[in-house]
Amino acid sequence: MIEQNPDLYFFIDFEHLKAKANKTFPFHLYVFNPMSKVYATYLHANSPLTSQKLDFLQFIVSKGGEIAVSRTQEMTFLHANQLKREDIPDLNEIPEHEFITRQKERAAKREKKAETKKFHFKDELGKAVESDNYLPLILEIREEAMTFPFTISHTVSLASYLSEKLLTQDTYINRMVALSAHLAIGCGMKDPLALGDLICAAFLAHLGHTQMEIFYSQKAFLELSTGQRREYKKHPGLSQHLIRKSGLIISERCNKILYQHHERADGSGYPEYKQGQFIEPLALVLGAAAHVLEYSSGKITGSPVAMSVVLKNMKEKTLSPGLEIEFGDTIYESLIYLLDTNNDSANAA
Ligand SMILES: [Fe+2]
Repeated sequence: MIEQNPDLYFFIDFEHLKAKANKTFPFHLYVFNPMSKVYATYLHANSPLTSQKLDFLQFIVSKGGEIAVSRTQEMTFLHANQLKREDIPDLNEIPEHEFITRQKERAAKREKKAETKKFHFKDELGKAVESDNYLPLILEIREEAMTFPFTISHTVSLASYLSEKLLTQDTYINRMVALSAHLAIGCGMKDPLALGDLICAAFLAHLGHTQMEIFYSQKAFLELSTGQRREYKKHPGLSQHLIRKSGLIISERCNKILYQHHERADGSGYPEYKQGQFIEPLALVLGAAAHVLEYSSGKITGSPVAMSVVLKNMKEKTLSPGLEIEFGDTIYESLIYLLDTNNDSANAA
């Protein structure tokens, strides 16, 4: 039998067998080849270990091979050799990694905090808009991301790491990360896998700006010429290209989110003019959050507009130059509900 699953076996030392010629064992013996990573049956249970086989087993061990026993025969092995579990290093639990311990502690602490102090997004957003200070919203996402398990995916781990290191100040990009994550949570997309992909995408979506003339980051979109707008619309592709070239590994969905963050449900977006069902929902979430921030900061029209006015116009579907509302019904409705800080049912969010 040839197997490659290390979870099925445990290693033993040659001495544990007290091996001598023609001895039999009530368990199967396997040998592990570290080069091919393969476990192969060496001696069936109750078959004599001939002197030839004994010599060859010693030879295998001297060359770096390992003797293994099936985990299903652990008790048989221990009993036959009058050994205890503690005598076999490979049978003892691998200590939990410090990252995992730390993450569990953070999750427990956050859970406890939530019991006494519930976070109300709409309340906090109202305060943020009023004071132009989004730090509490940013720190809330930082704390949430720092509880993400490390074993889900590399993108989730990256999201957790970037959040811990970067979500400490009230910057534009951090507002984009935090607002999109809060919006996703409000839309019911709250599992770490989804949030991790979204958070990484929000951090990386505008990397492409670094490859464009500086005025594209300074001039309002509506003030650009037709040709310049065409150039600007290349930024999602440039972001994706930079990530690929850098060798950064991100999930397929994260890649899609950042590439599609300007696609709109009615096909009016870019770069591929995709429609509704063909757009990753989290890309619409990021697009909605980014658009609200861009519009209110003046990056679309050239004139900053109060967040409350942007939301009022979106809610009433008032036609305003550059204002977009085509994020799909679910996201649009959640956006209006969650971001409408004048709504009395604030605490329900
Ligand atoms: Fe963008």
